[in-house]
Amino acid sequence: MSHHSVSGRCVVWIGRPSAEEHFGLIRAGWRTLVADPGRDSGETQGWSDAVLALVDLRTHAIDALTSLDQILAATPLPWIAMVGTRGRQDPLVAGRLAEAAEIIVGAAGMAALHQALARAIGLAGAPTLPDDERLAVMTGSSPAIQALSRNIHKFAPVELPLLITGETGTGKEMAARALHRLSRRRDKPFAAINCGALPANLVQSELFGHERGSFTGATSRRIGHFESADGGTVFLDEIGDLPLDAQTNLLRFLQEGTLERIGSCQSLHVDVRVLAATHVDLEKAVAQGRFREDLFYRLNVLRLRMPPLRERDGDIELLAQQFLETFRESYGTRARAFSTSARRAMNTFSWPGNVRELMNRVQRAAVVADDALITPEDLELTGDQRNGINDSLGSARISAEREAIMDCLRASAFNVSECARRLRVSRVTVYRLCKKHQLALDQLR
Ligand SMILES: Nc1ncnc2c1ncn2[C@@H]1O[C@H](COP(=O)(O)OP(=O)(O)OP(=O)(O)O)[C@@H](O)[C@H]1O
Ligand SMILES: [Mg+2]
Repeated sequence: MSHHSVSGRCVVWIGRPSAEEHFGLIRAGWRTLVADPGRDSGETQGWSDAVLALVDLRTHAIDALTSLDQILAATPLPWIAMVGTRGRQDPLVAGRLAEAAEIIVGAAGMAALHQALARAIGLAGAPTLPDDERLAVMTGSSPAIQALSRNIHKFAPVELPLLITGETGTGKEMAARALHRLSRRRDKPFAAINCGALPANLVQSELFGHERGSFTGATSRRIGHFESADGGTVFLDEIGDLPLDAQTNLLRFLQEGTLERIGSCQSLHVDVRVLAATHVDLEKAVAQGRFREDLFYRLNVLRLRMPPLRERDGDIELLAQQFLETFRESYGTRARAFSTSARRAMNTFSWPGNVRELMNRVQRAAVVADDALITPEDLELTGDQRNGINDSLGSARISAEREAIMDCLRASAFNVSECARRLRVSRVTVYRLCKKHQLALDQLR
């Protein structure tokens, strides 16, 4: 456990939760910190804000009383106990356990666990569980991701178009799927279309369909994505890449709810909700005449801003542990947690590739780790990069980011591939960052 401050609905799980227990709690909006009773260190720092300790005695039946006494001495928290079926038979243990706010016996299942926690925090005077456990649409306990989850719940039932913005890997598509799942359209299709991946001459036909013979090569009628998603949701990813003529048709669809297949003059009424996403600055694209202003305003009625991972205080460890557990379930790797220095490295890294990059690094680390604890080396987050760009990026300040990119570019003699290699990001990201900070590579060279 880290020295991060702990707040909100929080369980300090002293022992070993199963993956199901761990993520069941996280999904239900509990900040869940796992503390290993076998290791003692100054790690109880910061526990004072936590609302509840769950003392997991299922696997410590034999010396339960000793460990229980040690734990309770070190943990000034209201507590509940989870015991194995043997745990309660020892009268001494049973006596001590009587002080617990709740006792859960054995693998009680998630429902019983949630009830016990809710009752226990009721006793401790802490905030109670929200009615809607689904509030935790996106994994995370940071204020930024909680606010995002609330917005997803507010926006899901509304039929208006919606624009999702955020850096690469922040979960834009995941948010779009959540919006669909939480809407009345959930049983109808969800069509995800990457506008940047469609060949320019086929965009219209892909989206809106065409009639047989409408152009060379149109040997049969084609039903477009909008039509086949009727009743459902169309997710237009990288909307900034949509060619201007398709933008015009999309605007018409958003205004009138109708479309025409290419080569047809018959208007079809189609009922889909349009969600769009972009990682480029659409306002700028509008200013440069690459994106229709009227379409921008239509799409931008509701806006979901995905926070970059470096601004999601506390979520990095949570997500890292989750990715590790998921990976372990499939591959049974030796690594089961992160060393203190690995956690520090993760918390200070800038994560230009956001959640996707975190997942990739954790999976790679799980494969290469020799030990139960993943090290910064396993994550490839070692000193040589951290005293360079990433420390500066970690500050998440735009000016620092710009300077850091400049430094790295200079150090790489303005070679994009080299710079990308040093930053451990893709070349595309380097180009994107240059664009973002208006660094004209060809002039700098
Ligand atoms: N909160 C989260 N919890 C778990 N996994 C997440 C979360 N957010 C994102 N991911 C995972 O991170 C990866 C990237 O997410 P997604 O594809 O939605 O990002 P994106 O913003 O669309 O990225 P890009 O701009 O590169 O298309 C996916 O594998 C997704 O499952
Ligand atoms: Mg995406």
